[in-house]
Amino acid sequence: MTLNDLSTKIKNISENYKEEPIAGWITGDGPIPCNILFVGEAPGKNEVEIGKPFVGLAGKTFEKYLNSIGLYRKDIRITNTCFFRPVKITIGKTNKETISNRTPKVSEINLFREVLDEEIKLVNPKLIITLGNIPLKRLTDFKSIGDCHGNIIFNNKISRYIFPMYHPSALTYNRNDNFLKMYENDWINLKNILKTHV
Ligand code: URA
Repeated sequence: MTLNDLSTKIKNISENYKEEPIAGWITGDGPIPCNILFVGEAPGKNEVEIGKPFVGLAGKTFEKYLNSIGLYRKDIRITNTCFFRPVKITIGKTNKETISNRTPKVSEINLFREVLDEEIKLVNPKLIITLGNIPLKRLTDFKSIGDCHGNIIFNNKISRYIFPMYHPSALTYNRNDNFLKMYENDWINLKNILKTHV
């Protein structure tokens, strides 16, 4: 499969999906091949508007820490586990419609299994960094990021090293010094692992 085939596939899957509300889709971004691949959850509003992963608030946090270990967007590939934006639509008291992000369902993640597997093959990374629980569960046997973040894992099925990290938006939900220290420490661990594995 080529990059073009991948985006056609993502487009077709997204356009034919009718089970739950979704709002747009994107592809991964960054060089191919690439030694370092980050995998997030699913795009949000800013991402589908701009057409790239991690360009909203979580993306700003992500980029700040990426830069802090001497890496820049041009050095890495970044993609998602679910390539469309899963949304929920709620109708408020004044009949006003609100569209918000929701976590992708397992069935939605499964729609994109082949796409992500093929993207990993094309990118051929030496290290895959999962951001949050969704890509963690998709690419390892771990069930919770709390059990494994900041440590390197070898996935036998795809013969790749995986480094699980919290999703950058976890910083918004866990506003305390201990969490921040732990999160920053994971980036330092990543910097060290890149020296030996990439
Ligand atoms: N969060 C994600 O998991 N992916 C994106 O592309 C943007 C925000």
